[in-house]
Amino acid sequence: MLKFTDLHVTFHPNTINERIALDGVSYELKQGDFVSVLGTNGAGKSTLLNSIAGTVELDSGNILLDDMDITWMKEYKRAKYIGRLFQDPMKGTAPNMTILENLGLAYSRGKRSTLSKAIKKSDIPYFQKQLAKLQLGLENRLDTKVGLLSGGQRQALTLLMATLVTPKLLLLDEHTAALDPKTADTIMEVTNTLIQEEQIPTLMITHNIKQALQYSNKLLIMNEGRIVRELNQEEKKTIRADALLELYHALD
Ligand SMILES: Nc1ncnc2c1ncn2[C@@H]1O[C@H](COP(=O)(O)OP(=O)(O)OP(=O)(O)O)[C@@H](O)[C@H]1O
Ligand SMILES: [Mg+2]
Repeated sequence: MLKFTDLHVTFHPNTINERIALDGVSYELKQGDFVSVLGTNGAGKSTLLNSIAGTVELDSGNILLDDMDITWMKEYKRAKYIGRLFQDPMKGTAPNMTILENLGLAYSRGKRSTLSKAIKKSDIPYFQKQLAKLQLGLENRLDTKVGLLSGGQRQALTLLMATLVTPKLLLLDEHTAALDPKTADTIMEVTNTLIQEEQIPTLMITHNIKQALQYSNKLLIMNEGRIVRELNQEEKKTIRADALLELYHALD
């Protein structure tokens, strides 16, 4: 599925601002793995996801996605296979385009021909069926401009767009952190449903321990550019939130 080996990233090397962000990170995600990544601020979590997505270039290391070596593949090419969500709900959708137009764009992502970019009438029922899963009534607002939606509605739409053509991998970087608690719960539920339906391998960065324990099947804890603790499915099931919090604070 996804296997990364000995990833190294140093920002501003050989300067006074030198920062080792990834210091030899290795891990393998199996089919259906939903892995939470925890760790204090500056631990290297976002850099890890960014290097897998191709936004940050590695100094060294190797990344395989479904046996395809993507280590040096351009970011826009990887985007065909990798769905991404960030903390900011304003990212990932085009505000001046309608819900339908945004979904049309996302749907054409996996297709080869640029001619297929036009929205087909026959695709609309599928889009509506997918939108209905969000339980926000967006299936009845296809012609609404996305810029008029709330942050939570917009993040839900971004999530749908990222999974409309089933990606080989989903990367979530604190994607519910900017939402109010109730909306965050809703988005997390929908995220889980979409991931489970298609068995999408997922890496999710979160500071929410409860969320990590409830939804993911494995846990990684990062500190100073390294994975310092891995909890497999069995360990994850038995660890209590307070024990995990202690582990977390031991890093401070
Ligand atoms: N583009 C960049 N240029 C220079 N330094 C960077 C850059 N991006 C990250 N860093 C540094 O790399 C280290 C890891 O940052 P990263 O954003 O990966 O941490 P994080 O674990 O995602 O933290 P947070 O929980 O705050 O989001 C930090 O010391 C950060 O300052
Ligand atoms: Mg981060």
